[in-house]
Amino acid sequence: MSAKKRVAILISGRGSNMSALIEATKNPDYPAQIVGVISNTPAAPGLAIASRHNLPTAVHQLKSYADKNATDAAITATLKSWQTDIVCLAGFMRILSDEFAHQWHNRLINIHPSLLPRYKGLNTHRRALEAKDKVHGCSVHHVVAELDAGPVILQHEVPVLPDDTEETLEQRVLIAEHQLYPKALVALIEQTGSRP
Ligand code: GAR
Repeated sequence: MSAKKRVAILISGRGSNMSALIEATKNPDYPAQIVGVISNTPAAPGLAIASRHNLPTAVHQLKSYADKNATDAAITATLKSWQTDIVCLAGFMRILSDEFAHQWHNRLINIHPSLLPRYKGLNTHRRALEAKDKVHGCSVHHVVAELDAGPVILQHEVPVLPDDTEETLEQRVLIAEHQLYPKALVALIEQTGSRP
C-alpha cells in the first residue's frame, strides 16, 4: 500500500467537517492521515476538538502579520513543517491569497454548502429557499484564486422539503457534508495518486 497522504485542515469555527475527516482517518484503510489543524481565529471551537485528538494546532491571524500575503506565507511555513501533502479547508471563512492558491494548486480543496456553480459565497441555504429550489446540497471543489470557482470533485444532493427553514435545510446539508468530505478526499487522492 502506498504511504498515506499527509492532510492538514484549515478551520475558522466549530469544525464539524474537520471532525468528520478526523473520524474517517481512523479507518486503517483510509488513504490519508491528519497532520495538523490551523485556524485564523484563536476562538475557533474546533481547535479544542483537534487537541483532544492529539493533533498539532496553530493559529495564524491576519492581524498578527503585515498583510494577507505574509499571513498566508506563515500558514504555508506551518504546513511545510508538517510535511503536508493536501490542504482541506473546512469552514475556513477567509479568502486566501492568489499566491497561496497557486502554491497549493491541485492540493487545496474546500467544502461549500451548495451545488456549485449555484450560490457561490455566503447565505447559500437562504438563497436556495428564495429561489424555490427543489434540490440543494454541497460540493467539494479545488480552490483557485477566484472564489468558489475551482473544479468540483464531488457533490451531494439534498432535497428541499416544503416546510424547510434556513436552519432545517442547513442541518440536512451539514449531515451530507460530513459524508461527502471524506469521500471527496479519497477521490482527490485517487485522481492525483500517480503525480509526484
Ligand atoms: C460548513 O457548512 C461549510 O460548508 C461552510 O461553513 C460551515 C462550517 O461548518 N463553509 C463555507 O460556507 C465556505 N464558503 P464546520 O465548521 O462545522 O465544518
